[in-house]
Parts: sequence; structure tokens; C-alpha cells
Amino acid sequence: MIIAIDGPAASGKGTIARALAGHHRLPHLDTGLLYRGVGAAALASGTGFDDIPALAALAAGLDLAALDEEALKAGPVGEAASRVAAVPEVRAALLKLQRDFARQPGGAVLDGRDIGTVIAPEAEVKIFVTATPEARAERRFSELLKRGEAVTFDQVLDDIRRRDARDSGRAAAPLVQAPDAITLDNTGLDRDASIARALAIVAERI
Ligand code: C5P
Repeated sequence: MIIAIDGPAASGKGTIARALAGHHRLPHLDTGLLYRGVGAAALASGTGFDDIPALAALAAGLDLAALDEEALKAGPVGEAASRVAAVPEVRAALLKLQRDFARQPGGAVLDGRDIGTVIAPEAEVKIFVTATPEARAERRFSELLKRGEAVTFDQVLDDIRRRDARDSGRAAAPLVQAPDAITLDNTGLDRDASIARALAIVAERI
């Protein structure tokens, strides 16, 4: 069984994907980490976001086992990730790894922006997780405060709106809901209610 979870930044799709993977004992891949890994590598090496061959080489050389989730979740990396994610050559370099992960025997849970549309259109279950930009900014803001990052709510909301626009407006695998995906709008739902709804969606489909 492949479970595809897509949605915009800070929608809670990662939390939902982890919970579903735990419940159904499936391996889980947070595909945003791949783009964050490339974005962080570009920042660290001073690679320009317009240097397409160099960005594609960073993506092709990405070592999944070496990705440090904590460091990659920090503020500036998200913006860099969304820049490199708009480059078709970067997406192409990361495609096989994601498809292989999805198609491993026994199934998998993947979360990202294009899982149900590009990576695994054949997924048995597709959930599109969303919430208003304000609700998503609230969550991201309290997460960043807990990490001790010095940000304001307005900066976080701006960042989310900018990423939404870039992720939805790009030509290569834009963030769009697959026609056969079920919408889970968790504006006003807490973490547990949101997970319960996702578990119910999966239960109805299998
Ligand atoms: O989900 P997360 O915020 O970690 O993703 C970081 C960035 O990576 C997103 O803003 C998006 O541009 C990109 N991404 C993508 N396709 C995916 C997963 C993430 O383009 N499947």
C-alpha cells in the first residue's frame, strides 16, 4: 500500500505521515528533506540558485543517510529548498530515489508536494492536507519559537505565503491536488483530531 500525503508548507502533513506510517508499520519518507538537503548544500557551497548544472549535481550526489533533520528544518533552509525545488533538473535527479522508496515491497508513506501527482500517481490512498495560511503560520511560528529562533509572526506568515506562491506557481511539478486525493483541511483541528481524520480516510480506502 502506498500512502501519498501532499500539502503546502506547515500544513501538518509530516506529522500525519509519521502517524500513519507508525500505525500501519510502513516506512516513511519526508521528501521535503531531500529538497532541504539540496538547498542547504547550495547555501553551504555558495552555489547560485541559477547555476542549474551545479544544483543538479548536488541533487544527484545527495546522501539520504547523511541528512540531519534538525538542521534542515531551520528557517533559511526552507526558502533555499523551495528555490532549488523549482529547478526541473533538481527534481529529475531526485525522482528515482523517491519512486524506488514508494515502490518497495510492502508499501510506504511519502509526504511532499507532488507525491500523488508525479512520484506515485498509482498510490492507493492520497490525502491533500491543508489549512489557512494564518493557521499554518501560527503552527510554524510556535515551532520556531520553541527552537529559540528570533522571528515574528508576520515574518513567518510572509515566508509561508511566498513559498505557497512559488510551490504552486512553478512549471515543474507544481503543488496541485491530485483529482483523486481526499482533502483534509485541519484549520481549527488539533494534532490528534487531524491524525484521527487521516486514519479514518485510510481505513475507508483499504
Ligand atoms: O515540506 P517542506 O517544507 O520540508 O519542503 C521544503 C520545500 O521543498 C517546499 O517549499 C517545496 O518547494 C519543496 N518540495 C517539493 N516537492 C516535494 C517536497 C518538497 O517541491 N515533494
